[in-house]
Amino acid sequence: MLNIAFPKGRLGERVRELFSKAGYKFEGLENPERKLIFYNAQNDMRCFRVKPFDVSVYVERGAADIGVAGRDILLERDPDVYELMDLKTGLCKMAVAALNDFRDDPEKVLRVATEFPEIAKKYYAGLGRDIDIIYLRGSVEIAPVLGLSDVIVDIVETGSTLKANNLKIVSVISELSARLIANKSAYKFKGEIINQIMKGLSQVS
Ligand code: PRP
Repeated sequence: MLNIAFPKGRLGERVRELFSKAGYKFEGLENPERKLIFYNAQNDMRCFRVKPFDVSVYVERGAADIGVAGRDILLERDPDVYELMDLKTGLCKMAVAALNDFRDDPEKVLRVATEFPEIAKKYYAGLGRDIDIIYLRGSVEIAPVLGLSDVIVDIVETGSTLKANNLKIVSVISELSARLIANKSAYKFKGEIINQIMKGLSQVS
């Protein structure tokens, strides 16, 4: 059986649609409620819904043969997996944002609130800038509003969360999209079915 890790949340629904268009439907996945595991008996597959960050953990350790992860998570965790293809969905950016009236003082240590500390560290190390990372697990947009940080490093998709909180993009770190990833040994032993899935996905993505 082929095990596939899908991300929960916004990206998950797009991934479900993509797999469905490619001919891989999972019983009950359209309306998952509290269920986490779904089957496709015809192709001897099952998929399970996990937090986006955890997709790469399941795949890296072989509990999932393949999975779909945002490029943000691959940049942050750098998991030991194969990145097989760009699914060209979940398009967004990793960006630095600050309050509309923010003026940077390059002499000061910059306080950066983020769910992505490794991406932020790497970006500012490249600029030679000293930063103080404030690691948060969501709703980072309120950190500058409350004076907890000077800037945020976060995902921007439509920009509406930034706008609603009087924030603007200061710089774009990276363009992001969903990627199909595979466990390295699973790709060796189940390569035929994985390649078949890739072929199907490439026709619809
Ligand atoms: C993500 C991200 C931003 C928001 C950006 O958060 O962290 O907050 O989406 O999208 P937008 O540009 O379309 O407004 P998510 O909704 O996943 O929740 P989180 O804040 O808990 O991470």
